Amino acid sequence: MSQAIVIAVDGPSGVGKGELTRRLANVLGFDLLDSGAIYRVLGYAVRKAGLALFDEDSVAQEAKLLNLSFECFDDGVHVFLGGEDVSSQIRTEEAGNNASKVAAYPSVRQALLERQRQFLKEPGLVADGRDMGTVVFPRAQVKIFLDASAEVRAQRRCLQLQAKGQKACFEDIVKEIAERDERDRNRPVAPLVPASDALVIDTSAMSIEEVFKAAVDYIVEKTGLKIDL
Ligand code: C5P
Repeated sequence: MSQAIVIAVDGPSGVGKGELTRRLANVLGFDLLDSGAIYRVLGYAVRKAGLALFDEDSVAQEAKLLNLSFECFDDGVHVFLGGEDVSSQIRTEEAGNNASKVAAYPSVRQALLERQRQFLKEPGLVADGRDMGTVVFPRAQVKIFLDASAEVRAQRRCLQLQAKGQKACFEDIVKEIAERDERDRNRPVAPLVPASDALVIDTSAMSIEEVFKAAVDYIVEKTGLKIDL
């Protein structure tokens, strides 16, 4: 039986899961599964194929055939759809919204379930998403759920966009985040909820360093792993 360890990190959009999971994967020497990127690429593929996001059957068919891969480069992990590097195209607010629409379909989630589980190999996996601890890896040894108010998340997003020299309207971003939260929390399958055995961390008043430290302490407590920082 596989001894691989799963660290499941779930939470709403813009809560800082990406930064935390990258750091954790790095110090642990584990692979990283960015499950949101899979739904984002699917939304992109659906639009590219000229299909309608509201047509569940076509979207599910596209999910089954999705030719997606992740590749490591010096500047980080790039995401490919077939031979096309779609890393920047899938990071827009619109791509996030399209992802949350296709992610609400039960048949789509089913089609992508096994593919996500295949990322698990020894020594372990850090899995970033909405349902990592509840559905995809229900037996994960460590489950962490990050939370923060929509306003705090929108503020962080604005700062990120401004740092990249892009325009950021706080009101629009809060609205988009609230819409996406509503859809993710209220969908009938794999809604965004903490697993009953997850450590919930409200990051609203915490720095990334503090969140990272809290996560590392919890991983050590749950797994007995030695982590060199
Ligand atoms: O995490 P990220 O913002 O990239 O995810 C984009 C969208 O994909 C989310 O708003 C959510 O609707 C969906 N998603 C999901 N389940 C996951 C990961 C992402 O439904 N495990």
